[in-house]
Amino acid sequence: MASAQRYLNKVVIVTGGSKGIGRGIVKVFVENGAKVVFCARGAEDGQSLESTLNKEGPGSCLFVSCDVSKDGDIKRLIDVTVERFGQIDCLVNNAGWHPPHKSTDETTAEEFRDLLNLNLISYFLASKYALPYLRKTQGNIINVSSLVASIGQKDAAPYVATKGAIIAITKAMAVDESRYQVRVNCISPGNVMTPLWEELASKTENSSVTIKEGENAQLIGRMGTEAESGLAALFLAADATFCTGIDLFLSGGAELNYGFKSQIP
Ligand SMILES: NC(=O)c1ccc[n+]([C@@H]2O[C@H](COP(=O)([O-])OP(=O)(O)OC[C@H]3O[C@@H](n4cnc5c(N)ncnc54)[C@H](OP(=O)(O)O)[C@@H]3O)[C@@H](O)[C@H]2O)c1
Repeated sequence: MASAQRYLNKVVIVTGGSKGIGRGIVKVFVENGAKVVFCARGAEDGQSLESTLNKEGPGSCLFVSCDVSKDGDIKRLIDVTVERFGQIDCLVNNAGWHPPHKSTDETTAEEFRDLLNLNLISYFLASKYALPYLRKTQGNIINVSSLVASIGQKDAAPYVATKGAIIAITKAMAVDESRYQVRVNCISPGNVMTPLWEELASKTENSSVTIKEGENAQLIGRMGTEAESGLAALFLAADATFCTGIDLFLSGGAELNYGFKSQIP
């Protein structure tokens, strides 16, 4: 039904769209009539999702191979989108990585710098290259941060720092771009079951116990889903027209109430 398509014919770019949260976002936008260009490094997963979603419609999607840690790849992603569709209405910066948990003592400067490049500079560059087009459409940017940016996380200082900076840059760009009617918002997911979450759990002593603990960290008693992540992004893009510079918690209430937190032996 056409009236159910909440982002009909809008052009959306999603970084890291072949799996996890990004995949949920690509799928919801296609379901709502958008033309979505999404990227990842792995072409196989990307092309397979592209062909599945194009069969389902009613919108469409295009996979572009791109490593967001490379400036030239990001530029090409924006260029390909404009060449194909002539406009950009929404940029979703999502591609990022959570390294295995490690103490500050074990973390090198190089590891921290590489993560800043992947998780933060890539968001800045994609925004920089997309903004000239977003200004023309009075479009919007959605940055995927993390709940841990606000509440901290054990043995993950560089990751938490990159995510905190994403919330800060969201606010800074919301201020700068308001004169062009471009909105800039972010989403802070708590635990959402994705390949990344599974991979981190597999590195712990007992992955099923880790997953159970991950589920119990939310008041809602489960993890969030890829589809719920997509709906949160669609809300910011299509409905939240009076919101800019906000950080939307997608967390099932994980940040609320006291828990057993002391690590003092
Ligand atoms: N899952 C959670 O609970 C959670 C919570 C808070 C925040 N987040 C944030 O949400 C975002 C997505 O996380 P996720 O859990 O969905 O991760 P995921 O399951 O690992 O999926 C990541 C996606 O990004 C792509 N990607 C990774 N590195 C890339 C690169 N250098 N260039 C281009 N694409 C790249 C991956 O494909 P390729 O590997 O083929 O490139 C994949 O499509 C991240 O920014 C993460 O920090 C996740």
